[in-house]
Amino acid sequence: MTHHHTAPVRPRFAGTRYPRLAEIPAFTEFIASGWDDVAVHPTLPAGTAAAAASHRARLSAALPGKTLVVAAGAAPIRNDDAAYGFRADSSFVWLTGCQVEGALLVMWPAAGGHDAVLYLPRPFRPGDAGFFSDAAHGELWVGPSAGLPEWSDALQVTVEPLESLEVRHADLRGAQAARSAAPLATTAGASVSPELERTLSRLRMVKDEWEITQLRAAVDATVGGFAAVVAEVPRAIADSLGERWLQGTFDRHARTFGNGPGYSTIVGSGAHAPILHWVRCDGPILPHAALLLDMGVETHSLYTADVTRTVPAGGTFTSAQRAVHDLVEKAHRAGLEQIRPGTPYLDFHFAAMEVVAQGLHDWGLLPVSVDEALSPEGQQHRRYLACGIGHHLGLDVHDCSQAHYEDYMGADLEPGVVMTVEPGLYFHAHDLTLPPELRGIGVRLEDDILVTESGSEVLSDGLPIDADGIEQWTRGHLGSGA
Ligand code: GLY
Ligand code: MN
Ligand code: MN
Repeated sequence: MTHHHTAPVRPRFAGTRYPRLAEIPAFTEFIASGWDDVAVHPTLPAGTAAAAASHRARLSAALPGKTLVVAAGAAPIRNDDAAYGFRADSSFVWLTGCQVEGALLVMWPAAGGHDAVLYLPRPFRPGDAGFFSDAAHGELWVGPSAGLPEWSDALQVTVEPLESLEVRHADLRGAQAARSAAPLATTAGASVSPELERTLSRLRMVKDEWEITQLRAAVDATVGGFAAVVAEVPRAIADSLGERWLQGTFDRHARTFGNGPGYSTIVGSGAHAPILHWVRCDGPILPHAALLLDMGVETHSLYTADVTRTVPAGGTFTSAQRAVHDLVEKAHRAGLEQIRPGTPYLDFHFAAMEVVAQGLHDWGLLPVSVDEALSPEGQQHRRYLACGIGHHLGLDVHDCSQAHYEDYMGADLEPGVVMTVEPGLYFHAHDLTLPPELRGIGVRLEDDILVTESGSEVLSDGLPIDADGIEQWTRGHLGSGA
């Protein structure tokens, strides 16, 4: 088909500039009215407000007389007005239960403790210019949102509009700010306080009953996610969908049954399994390879699980994969045995490492004796396990990371601590110290453990840890691939 051009006409819109809506009274008047009221109440997991109140009381007792500022933070901008997904700061959530972007908590010193005030950005409603122009808080962009009275009611805390803090900057001079509140600290003459960060990390290390309930839910949803992922393995193989398909399967599960993945989902098939943070996931699922899955669901309350299993993609481990798995399991059990109140935190690490070093030595892989390797001057076994093999777990996958050494690595375990134990062996495909049959095998076992009054409880024991059990579980969940 050809186009027949007639005589050129002056385009109808030539010279017309794009209208700036906010500057057009006829428009702003028209859009300001004629909207029904929509009542929106925040939906929060039951018990959120009470848990946050008790966390504030603990912080108040730990830092009496100090003005404390903690912020929800803001999503980093990707470009223009497209931001990365917002996820509120963990200490802010711990203290408030609130996940509103841009919100601030100030704990003002008062007789007998602190008065907590939550400063929230108001949603822009009809009549506000932001209603149609503000992509972050305009209801035309984000939908009808809870107002300040509704937040105050849901969180049982004093709520004031964010602007009312702006006029109180003088009162914030000398306040202790968390890192999340660094921008405000700079403008208001407060300072980012390592003492506050350290204190928050120390306090957050012991979980209360409500937090333990959240963590149990995170782990349970994660176990369900493992089943959902393994069910997709045959399809990922048959249709050449690869690691990405399984990563996406878990992420969809996490987003559907929680807030989302608690950290970047790791899916490593074969030679990718030894790569510690294999989140690129651009490889195929190899039918006879071991498949390492490190995945965690974050609940709506933002507590996350962190679980790893290494499964045979075809349902049966090779003898080499099984030998590596057996050694990792032995190290894992040795680590788990150390988890109980009163035990030095690092005992699980040393116990697991003894097993690893001995096993590697038995396989002729260590250039020195077991004792030399285990000594602080040796550590040759760590070539095959260079990462940490456990950490505190909670709102953050690596929880309480601002704690001092003596409060964390150097502390004794106490009831309410939740932590991971996660030994592994990472035999890279290009590691020339290894016999060919071990190259390209990576195995990690990672469980989430609660320290109880009498010992410990493995929260993630819905998944087996022994090779036989894992094979059986995997075969029971592998889908048909049809
Ligand atoms: N998935 C991160 C970790 O295991 O620590
Ligand atoms: Mn971990
Ligand atoms: Mn992990």
